[in-house]
Amino acid sequence: MSRLMLGRTLERVCKAVLLLCLVHFLIMMILYFDVYSQRFDIFSRFNNGRGANASRWPHHSYYNYSGARPNATFPSYIPSSEQLLPSGKPEQNSTHTTPKPIPPCPEVPPGLVGRLLIEFSSLMSMERVQRENPNVTEGGKYTPPDCRPKQKVAIIIPFRHREHHLKYWLHYLHPILRRQKIDYGIYIINQLGEDTFNRAKLLNVGYTEALKDAEYDCFIFSDVDLIPMDDRNLYHCYDQPRHFAIAMDKFGFRLPYAGYFGGVSGLSKKQFLKINGFPNEYWGWGGEDDDIYNRITLNGMKVSRPDVKIGRYRMIKHERDKHNEPNPQRFNKIQNTKNTMRKDGISSLMYRLVSIKKYPLYTNISVEIGKPPPRPLRG
Ligand SMILES: *[C@@H]1O[C@H](CO)[C@@H](O)[C@H](O)[C@H]1NC(C)=O
Ligand SMILES: *[C@@H]1O[C@H](CO)[C@@H](O)[C@H](O)[C@H]1NC(C)=O
Ligand SMILES: *[C@@H]1O[C@H](CO)[C@@H](O)[C@H](O)[C@H]1NC(C)=O
Ligand SMILES: *[C@@H]1O[C@H](CO)[C@@H](O)[C@H](O)[C@H]1NC(C)=O
Ligand SMILES: *[C@@H]1O[C@H](CO)[C@@H](O)[C@H](O)[C@H]1NC(C)=O
Ligand SMILES: *[C@@H]1O[C@H](CO)[C@@H](O)[C@H](O)[C@H]1NC(C)=O
Repeated sequence: MSRLMLGRTLERVCKAVLLLCLVHFLIMMILYFDVYSQRFDIFSRFNNGRGANASRWPHHSYYNYSGARPNATFPSYIPSSEQLLPSGKPEQNSTHTTPKPIPPCPEVPPGLVGRLLIEFSSLMSMERVQRENPNVTEGGKYTPPDCRPKQKVAIIIPFRHREHHLKYWLHYLHPILRRQKIDYGIYIINQLGEDTFNRAKLLNVGYTEALKDAEYDCFIFSDVDLIPMDDRNLYHCYDQPRHFAIAMDKFGFRLPYAGYFGGVSGLSKKQFLKINGFPNEYWGWGGEDDDIYNRITLNGMKVSRPDVKIGRYRMIKHERDKHNEPNPQRFNKIQNTKNTMRKDGISSLMYRLVSIKKYPLYTNISVEIGKPPPRPLRG
């Protein structure tokens, strides 16, 4: 009798304990999900600001657990106001208060077409090129309207008497750069006077003058007669100094030699300063690109290049320019880069700025850069 009583009591106690456990478990679950929903809320807002998928469950590793700091409360993880979407209350008209966030530009721009037909026989006029490019702003600038590019790119063109080539260059390059989603400005650096041409010094001038105009991170140096034949050859800067024009038609679409760095190249600001810019003392045709190549390798960098199928270029055929005869000293000078690069470069650049004119499709910077020192007389 008493045993039976005892058994029943025990049974009740057990049931009670079980029930208690169940209730405890439920409460735990509720708390657990409550906390997660808070985190979820924070992350959905965080992600919205960056254009990512808000509807996805947040990945745990995004969460910064260093909550031990007194100030590390939840609100401190909410990014600054312009990154946030408005609070999402339905009755509030959010579009008025906050600008729509623009997503970063994709690594591979979606509108590229690949191989291009490039020819120079059709008549070209500056008016036509302007009509084709209504969205380029004064001075030859453009910013993608629908995404945020990582870099701001200055395109520097050394120039003298090549108006005809410039029209083709602008005609082809503006649409290519637009498809590539590049944030860019075009600068032609016009050498005044008829003294010997000095390409590398003009490029140094371009770097300096472009930086006075805007905060560029990347500099692409292009000859005016070179047109890329494939828009997958992206005009921005890379981890290493970039050589773009690796396969020109005039060289049978091949690199003429392993250390070739001519035609079109690109360096970030940091890379450019690391090599003290370009040499100022190469007057006349040739050698300066080899000197730049030497500067890059001597400073522990190496040249990066696109695939040979993508790095194809057409060159506009022309007579050799006057006052740009091959420089006979070039072979000696490129042996000496190691000794000259610290003193001759962006650090020693001297020139006289004569005018800056902003045209619809480019900025024209005219400079006097002096003339070569008198050549030692031969015995
Ligand atoms: C975001 O979600 C949509 C539909 O849920 C999906 O189609 C899209 O690929 C997602 N985007 C990313 C970046 O995950
Ligand atoms: C986490 O927070 C600490 C302290 O605020 C900070 O030093 C650290 O960089 C943060 N980590 C991440 C991944 O955000
Ligand atoms: C904590 O916040 C206060 C005021 O908000 C600030 O003065 C203090 O520097 C913060 N401390 C830390 C460790 O961030
Ligand atoms: C919100 O703004 C849009 C565009 O400015 C407008 O058309 C719409 O009527 C507004 N809605 C409310 C509820 O104010
Ligand atoms: C110029 O910009 C407007 C507005 O963003 C756009 O509708 C138009 O298609 C653009 N034109 C060209 C030629 O890109
Ligand atoms: C650039 O400006 C100079 C100086 O005014 C002028 O002589 C030259 O024709 C201009 N060149 C171009 C391509 O705009």
